[in-house]
Amino acid sequence: MKNITIIGTGYVGLVTGVGLSEFGNKVICTDINNDKISKLNSGKVPIYEPGLEEIIIRNIQNDRLFFSLDIAASIKKSEVIIIAVGTPQSDHGDADMQYVDSVVNTIKENLNNYKVICTKSTVPIGSGKKIIKSLKSSYKENSDFNYVSNPEFLREGSAVKDFLWPDRVIIGTSSLNAYETMCDIYRPLYINKNPIKRTSVETAEMIKYASNSFLALKISYINEIANLCEQVDADVHDVAVAMGKDGRISDKFLHPGPGFGGSCFPKDLRSLSYIAKENDVKMSTINAAIEANKKQKYLMCCKLENLVSGGLKGKEIAVLGLAFKANTDDIRDSSSIEMISFILSKSGKVNAYDPIANDSMLKIFPNIAYFQNVYEAVNKVDALVVMTEWNEFRSLDLRKIRSAMNGNFILDTRNILNMKELSALKFVYDNVGRQKI
Ligand code: UDX
Ligand code: UDX
Repeated sequence: MKNITIIGTGYVGLVTGVGLSEFGNKVICTDINNDKISKLNSGKVPIYEPGLEEIIIRNIQNDRLFFSLDIAASIKKSEVIIIAVGTPQSDHGDADMQYVDSVVNTIKENLNNYKVICTKSTVPIGSGKKIIKSLKSSYKENSDFNYVSNPEFLREGSAVKDFLWPDRVIIGTSSLNAYETMCDIYRPLYINKNPIKRTSVETAEMIKYASNSFLALKISYINEIANLCEQVDADVHDVAVAMGKDGRISDKFLHPGPGFGGSCFPKDLRSLSYIAKENDVKMSTINAAIEANKKQKYLMCCKLENLVSGGLKGKEIAVLGLAFKANTDDIRDSSSIEMISFILSKSGKVNAYDPIANDSMLKIFPNIAYFQNVYEAVNKVDALVVMTEWNEFRSLDLRKIRSAMNGNFILDTRNILNMKELSALKFVYDNVGRQKI
């Protein structure tokens, strides 16, 4: 078991730090954001992530988990340093490495003895090499390090489960010592023979991009199949279920919807496409998935406009679900953003509701109306659009909604509403690729 510093206590850094403390390590989660660290130090979790709070409390009580703004002191005390700051998309489409670069400088200044330095943030292939070069550039006496790429595969909303019971752990390093150190921090997984795979740094970096891009591609594929289903009277739900029974395909990530969002898929695809271009390799599939996703988001807006008779001008629309997926408060690249912008651009009015993400969306759209529950949000609206597959939307009282609404238009971009019930209640509805009843 090791002393570990995590730099960057966002969605990924926090779950990683908490998970590693649960595995028995002593972990300091650091960040430059004072507000975040103060909240955590007073026992409050700054993000919504199911199951996280109880593990945080347990490990704080067991003296294994700490939160600090003092990144320098934390580095000096630790044997393993994990970089988990954001790598958002830059204006050119590649990953913005400024935060990673700044953290690498901080590590360099505070290297006081041998450490394993590990990148968990998603970084372009070849970044590890650059980081190693930078760390070596002002080599101090008594300081030594080995480098590891250890990509994350944490889905927001099920990140705790993904961390504690991973499908695989990838450890990219040329150093046997660093590999063994990493196996040690993941000891419970190692003992349970969870698949821990050692690769080169570049291969580990590529595994992350290749995995996320494949999943995104799969979603774009089923979205396009759904769009075709609509034209040829086929039902995408039955198609996806039947396809998924084939073990070679699998039924995961085969749900059509309003286009993928989140902090990873959109930027990772763009970054991979950029890397490919830089290396003179044409990745038609990746570029097509990006294009298909953009179209899918727009298609949802057109669906709404076509559904509501007389267009959207002056209409009140309830938008249910703002987060990019269920079980998170994250709205980064959420399809709801396009939908709300579109409604506003057509001079419609938006009533927004999300069980968790209202506050996050308020920062982007401060002037739309936010509600604390579904039934208030749908009161007197002309139309309703479901954007996120929250469980509470799967069991809506559609009769109550019908009588609260002025209009009878429903767009279900997640295919979660019961079509028989919608028809019986005389809703005029649309969804993504399902045969209407
Ligand atoms: C990030 C990356 O964007 C993603 O590519 C990677 O796969 C996982 O890590 P996420 O954890 O969702 O994703 O980012 P975010 O929630 O924005 O957290 C980043 C944290 O780093 C923030 O709390 C920020 O304050 C902190 N930070 C940023 C630092 O501590 N130091 C810095 O120099 C910059
Ligand atoms: C993703 C990766 O799955 C995870 O391994 C890690 O690398 C971080 O990025 P995350 O973005 O949190 O996780 O959520 P994910 O469950 O992958 O969903 C991404 C988007 O795809 C969401 O907008 C979701 O609604 C959409 N999606 C997912 C679909 O439209 N259909 C599906 O079948 C699955």
